[in-house]
Amino acid sequence: MNEENLLALQDVSYTYDDENGSRVPVLKDVDLTIQKGSFVSVLGHNGSGKSTMAKLMNALLLPEGGKVLVSGMDTSQGELVWEIRRHVGMVFQNPDNQIVGATVEDDVAFGLENMGVEPEQMRQRIDEALASVGMEPYLLAQPHRLSGGQKQRVAIAGIMAMRPSVIILDEATAMLDPQGRQEVLQLVRRLNRDEGITIINITHFPEEAVYSDKVVVMNAGEVLMEGPPGDVFNQVERLKAVGLDVPFAVRLRHMLASKGIDLPFVLHQEELVEHVCRLLLTR
Ligand SMILES: Nc1ncnc2c1ncn2[C@@H]1O[C@H](COP(=O)(O)OP(=O)(O)O)[C@@H](O)[C@H]1O
Ligand SMILES: [Mg+2]
Repeated sequence: MNEENLLALQDVSYTYDDENGSRVPVLKDVDLTIQKGSFVSVLGHNGSGKSTMAKLMNALLLPEGGKVLVSGMDTSQGELVWEIRRHVGMVFQNPDNQIVGATVEDDVAFGLENMGVEPEQMRQRIDEALASVGMEPYLLAQPHRLSGGQKQRVAIAGIMAMRPSVIILDEATAMLDPQGRQEVLQLVRRLNRDEGITIINITHFPEEAVYSDKVVVMNAGEVLMEGPPGDVFNQVERLKAVGLDVPFAVRLRHMLASKGIDLPFVLHQEELVEHVCRLLLTR
């Protein structure tokens, strides 16, 4: 396996049983590689197989066909499961379902205790983890008093304490208000940039994907599109056909183009504003 590929899905298939007991394919021969240190966004409408794929990536589920490799470790080897889960942390949608401790500090300690970290090392790991998510002032706070965004940051601290290689966010911003969403997104971008943590952000918000190195579009259990955000979001009609939206700047440019006004392709609103101003001022 390529050194740079931290995670690889090779020809992976997965099936669930529906209520009538018939087998429903959820992932069909999925091939995907995630480079070490990259920020990857995964888009796709409900039921396209995103969560199933995430669970396969940290051995919460095992593939029926094909292979999932995490730093070269095959997830189907039972003895590697705990090492794999330490490497690949998961943040889920509902912040209230992931916190177990009575205080923020206890919550971060919980995972470390399970991992058998020495008590002398715990203090340092907890402090480092809380600092990395900017929650150190809340060490003794009761989690239920925190905002949604803060709760997700505590969940991320719990993962950071395990010194992971990858954090997968499975719609972790979906239940948050705009401020909480910003908090979490800025945090994971910083962890990616400054600490080299690989991030896989599964999201409903195309806006969140504009900063990624790679965008993966899932549809009906398959990888429909994969590439840099510019290449993926430039295919507005193809995305629309599978019920997906594009970032605001892309949508507006597309609408202007349909009225005969052509502007350069951009992903960010600020850049589009610049182009529109230039156009208006030179008329
Ligand atoms: N535990 C389960 N039992 C049966 N079917 C499931 C189960 N989990 C997911 N599915 C089905 O698998 C498909 C893909 O689900 P999922 O991976 O959760 O998609 P997504 O995260 O993209 O919404 C859906 O059709 C869903 O109904
Ligand atoms: Mg899901």
